[in-house]
Amino acid sequence: MTENRLYEVSQDKSSPNRNLSPLTTELDKDKKLMVGGCLLSELAKKYGTPLYVIDEETVRSACKAYKNSMNDHYPGESLPIYASKANSSLTLSKIVASEGLGIDVVSAGELITALNAGIKGRDIFLHGNNKSKEELELGYKSGVNIVIDNQHDIEVLEKIVSPGGKVAKLMLRFTPGIECHTHEYIRTGHLDSKFGFDPDQLKSVLIYLSKCPWAELNGIHAHIGSQIFELKPHKDLAKIMTEALVMAREIGHPVNDLNIGGGLGIRYVNSDDPPSINNWIKEVATSILKACEEKSTHLPRLICEPGRSIIATAGVTIYKVGSRKEIPGLRTYLSIDGGMSDNPRPITYQSLYSACLADRPISSPQDKVTIAGKHCESGDVLLKDLHLPLTKSGDFLVIFATGAYNASMSSNYNRIPRPAAVLVQNGTSDLIQRRESSEDLLRLDVIPRRFIEVN
Ligand code: LLP
Repeated sequence: MTENRLYEVSQDKSSPNRNLSPLTTELDKDKKLMVGGCLLSELAKKYGTPLYVIDEETVRSACKAYKNSMNDHYPGESLPIYASKANSSLTLSKIVASEGLGIDVVSAGELITALNAGIKGRDIFLHGNNKSKEELELGYKSGVNIVIDNQHDIEVLEKIVSPGGKVAKLMLRFTPGIECHTHEYIRTGHLDSKFGFDPDQLKSVLIYLSKCPWAELNGIHAHIGSQIFELKPHKDLAKIMTEALVMAREIGHPVNDLNIGGGLGIRYVNSDDPPSINNWIKEVATSILKACEEKSTHLPRLICEPGRSIIATAGVTIYKVGSRKEIPGLRTYLSIDGGMSDNPRPITYQSLYSACLADRPISSPQDKVTIAGKHCESGDVLLKDLHLPLTKSGDFLVIFATGAYNASMSSNYNRIPRPAAVLVQNGTSDLIQRRESSEDLLRLDVIPRRFIEVN
């Protein structure tokens, strides 16, 4: 077996989505793994495990890569917005906002987080295929851009906006009918999708909205899916969207925003080879420029809304190894103190990950193991056939690229508390999300009076 040097697959400083590990990953003098200048095993001892660790420099670099690439390749106005469904917290919202990004939210919870982080309504975009009246009301009152997804949004908003009151700032989402190669659960651009207006409905909705005094349609939106490595679908999308933009303008809407969604893939395992942020933006921007020129329409403000490619490779999760089960001739299971509740992606999408030991990241591998979670579910396996040095109970295991869709999709399955999250930078670590406690787990339980009286 060759030496496991995963931490070294981290070379593209300008595009963090192309690396396996955070940009600041390095070894200390004893060849132990460090991120953000902090020894991972020390973080595990200080904050406990499982522990989400987010490297601030990687997040900021990804934000800058989007900002700079848009400035470099698109002569019109542009704005990257962070899709906070990937990982939503007050601190992360503040970081992306300080880098000049807006924020995409899909629920009252994500919206409240962005607002509490101090983000202005004009920089927030509210999505959702079934927004509640309360969510629409909060969005409207906070002056956010509401991305209308269906007729229901329009009907509810019509009742919320009082006559003579301030107009609702809208963006219209439609399904562009684009197929792309990614897991079917995270594809959204094909016609059989629950998101957005069908392209056949587009014209009539635009006409309807042009007669609504309460509505100000500022933008057109589409998103085709997530973890995409091809460039062609987004180039095609840019063209289709420009056609929709022209249609909206011809109907009389002063549409200035064209939001092409997110979706750029990241490297989870060595063989993944996603495009760089710069290339992705360049292709999309070029395609929009060309389409606008062909249609003789003025350049819109270009918006994109990446989630995964901003935050995924900034994050690692540290676990403590516990039990070991060897099945001769078949498999060796190493169980860790987390699993599908803090990372549901392997069981949901069969996602692959990379991992190594925190304190022996480059020792020669002697062990082929399957990393099992601690949940009562046979499918709770985070990695199969991982090569590690001989590993014992108490060792710390680091799984890379867990910054996106791990914390945000975590659960309390088996009543296991959610992990804490720390932000690391220049040798300091700061808690940004507390670990759930037993009290937190019991907090929402209510015992009916009659049970208390009987017992
Ligand atoms: N905009 C919209 C409207 C979206 O629906 C999404 C992701 C994004 C932007 C951000 O896409 P990204 O840049 O992160 O690919 N839970 C799945 C991913 C679901 C993505 C949902 N929408 C996973 O763990 O792979």
